[in-house]
Amino acid sequence: MKEVLKLKTGEKIVIRHINELDIDGVWNNFNEVVEEGIYLPVLFPVKSRFEKQSWYNNIKKEREICIVAVHPKLKSPYNILGQCEISSLDWDAATHVGSLGIIVQKKYRDLGIGFHIIDMAIRESKKLDNKEKIILSCFSNNKRALFLYKKLGFKMIGRREKQFYMDSNYYDEILMELWINDYLTNNP
Ligand SMILES: CC(C)(COP(=O)(O)OP(=O)(O)OC[C@H]1O[C@@H](n2cnc3c(N)ncnc32)[C@H](O)[C@@H]1OP(=O)(O)O)[C@@H](O)C(=O)NCCC(=O)NCCS
Repeated sequence: MKEVLKLKTGEKIVIRHINELDIDGVWNNFNEVVEEGIYLPVLFPVKSRFEKQSWYNNIKKEREICIVAVHPKLKSPYNILGQCEISSLDWDAATHVGSLGIIVQKKYRDLGIGFHIIDMAIRESKKLDNKEKIILSCFSNNKRALFLYKKLGFKMIGRREKQFYMDSNYYDEILMELWINDYLTNNP
């Protein structure tokens, strides 16, 4: 599946499944968000080529979904504007559940990329990976992400107080979920 999306800026970008050439771009985005230090409960960037490649190999082996937003006029690694991964849980009895993670490059936020890559990832995770429900977790102060998840129809199902401690601050964790059939009914 592949779609062209025209941004408010006039730029045309492509949304599609990840391929091996995207690995550096995806990890570049991840490491930049880690350095921002306020969105993910991760303290150190990932530098190891082995770790980056293993992550990609595992996606392919497990047939997990990773949708990327690609700028055709930019060079690697900056051409990957964002990524949305829906991974499987470790439990044998929860293969119908996918766990969502998303990152969009700072310069390209608030342009609708997040909305569109999540939308494609949800649809593809049902079609290609038999997922029925998507779950996610988010810091309670991440207003933009929470707004977007609610807009897509995710329901808040819990809060873990002071679940994370970073840079001398505690953060509550918000837990959300979405049934894919409900999503598809509301967004045919
Ligand atoms: C969260 C994130 C993935 C969203 O991607 P995005 O491409 O910016 O999302 P979109 O542009 O589709 O939607 C963002 C929406 O939030 C709104 N928004 C922005 N700041 C907001 C705020 N402080 N409060 C409420 N809504 C806000 C925007 O107006 C937009 O809504 P609209 O399209 O209806 O106007 C992206 O901003 C990001 O990567 N953030 C850093 C990493 C992160 O937080 N990852 C998720 C961890 S749970």
